[in-house]
Amino acid sequence: MPRRFVLALDQGTTSSRAIVFDHRGRARATAQQEFPQHFPQPGWVEHDPEDLWATTRRTALAAVAEANLTGADLAALGLTNQRETVVLWDRRTGRPVAPAIVWQDRRTAAACERLRHRGAEPFVRRKTGLLLDPYFSATKLAWLLDHIPGARRRANRGELAFGTVDAWLLWKLTGGTVHATDVTNASRTLLVNLRTGEWDDELLRLLRIPREVLPAIRSSSEVYGEITSIPALRGVPIAGVAGDQHAALFGQACFQPGMAKNTYGTGCFLLLHTGAKPVRSRHRLLTTIAWRLGPDRPLEYALEGSVFIGGAVVQWLRDGLGVIEKSSDIEALAARAPDNGGVYLVPAFTGLGAPHWNASARGAIIGLTRGTTAAHLARAALESIAYQSADLLAAMRVDAKIRLRELRVDGGATVNTALMQFQSDLLRVPVVRPRVAETTALGAAYLAGLAVGFWRDQAEIARLWSVGRIFRPAGSAPAMHRLHSGWHRAVTRAKAWAE
Ligand code: G3P
Repeated sequence: MPRRFVLALDQGTTSSRAIVFDHRGRARATAQQEFPQHFPQPGWVEHDPEDLWATTRRTALAAVAEANLTGADLAALGLTNQRETVVLWDRRTGRPVAPAIVWQDRRTAAACERLRHRGAEPFVRRKTGLLLDPYFSATKLAWLLDHIPGARRRANRGELAFGTVDAWLLWKLTGGTVHATDVTNASRTLLVNLRTGEWDDELLRLLRIPREVLPAIRSSSEVYGEITSIPALRGVPIAGVAGDQHAALFGQACFQPGMAKNTYGTGCFLLLHTGAKPVRSRHRLLTTIAWRLGPDRPLEYALEGSVFIGGAVVQWLRDGLGVIEKSSDIEALAARAPDNGGVYLVPAFTGLGAPHWNASARGAIIGLTRGTTAAHLARAALESIAYQSADLLAAMRVDAKIRLRELRVDGGATVNTALMQFQSDLLRVPVVRPRVAETTALGAAYLAGLAVGFWRDQAEIARLWSVGRIFRPAGSAPAMHRLHSGWHRAVTRAKAWAE
């Protein structure tokens, strides 16, 4: 019996998902499970690593069962994950020594500030393509080594293992026999040299990380090992691993320099493929590794802009303000206002990400009048998602000197047609929603399938990508320009608040 399917596991920030894909890239079955978020102090965000594993294991089994398959039907497993989140565990027992520190966690802001103060940022930026921000893994790992009793000593002796979530799950899937990470996840730690894709001794010294804790870095598309710890799936090769945004770029078949995707989730992550050479940003965007498609293949690069609050602004309208009952109600509420009525909402709830990187900015609503209604607020909230993404793309266009032909989009908020239309109006380029919206999981499946010959090459994958709906720019460019400059004035005020 030929193995006719690939299983993709997408371990995200709020839930774990498993999807079975067929040879045409169509989802055959999906399972999803949320897990608890822990906020032990203001600005701290933690996960229990055992929850990440338990929900991953359960959803994997559920998706395979729902598709009426067994492990023998699976050609490969692809793994993708929330990036930057840090897990530290005991090599002997396989147990975590502390909760995972999540990418959103700001506890190392002061440590980053101290490093900046010492003048380390230009050096870090040159080597890693990133910035000194608590978002990335290294300062979080150093925090664990410094605050868990005995951790640093045990780490130096090689008793502890560090991993981003991919490495943790790989360890669990292979019963503790593989301690490895892929190059995209590694590139988000602040410890990897962008040019070589390897751990860098100078960075390790600066950030005080012992080499003994680190996983081996492998490519995004190769056989890492086999599943041994889930009896029903034993023997399935784990053949693709990538951070979720990189997997989405791959799932959107953005294989050529100049192709870009934006994922609208809790945050928004816009990645532009820039080819075989890293492009340096002059607008505080990140230079990141897009993927390496096999041990002997070259590194490919991307520019990335990350917006911390995207779809989460809709959750805030629902849970914080109570102006809508369900997230999907926002579209109807916003449609009741013919325009934004001069109202802008800057959702700088946790500061501002790219291109501002301002940790102390705070949210602002401005332009209120006696005539302002909940509908204007809903509209301003939706528009804020599009404005933030447009600002990223504007910076990218200058940095990479490209003329973007279209923006491919995915993620939960892309079902909102008004938002997608407004995004296109603002950008003045077509916004393209693919037929298969699950591009993150699909990208992981493709990376795994390529490694085992399930798909022949990228050309075959590019042919599987197909358009669901295209949103073409409408409205007048000058009117859009006026709206956009109102947004910039509002952002200036949000930044000034904490100064
Ligand atoms: O950099 C963080 C990103 O990888 C998280 O993605 O989809 O889990 O919110 P998501």
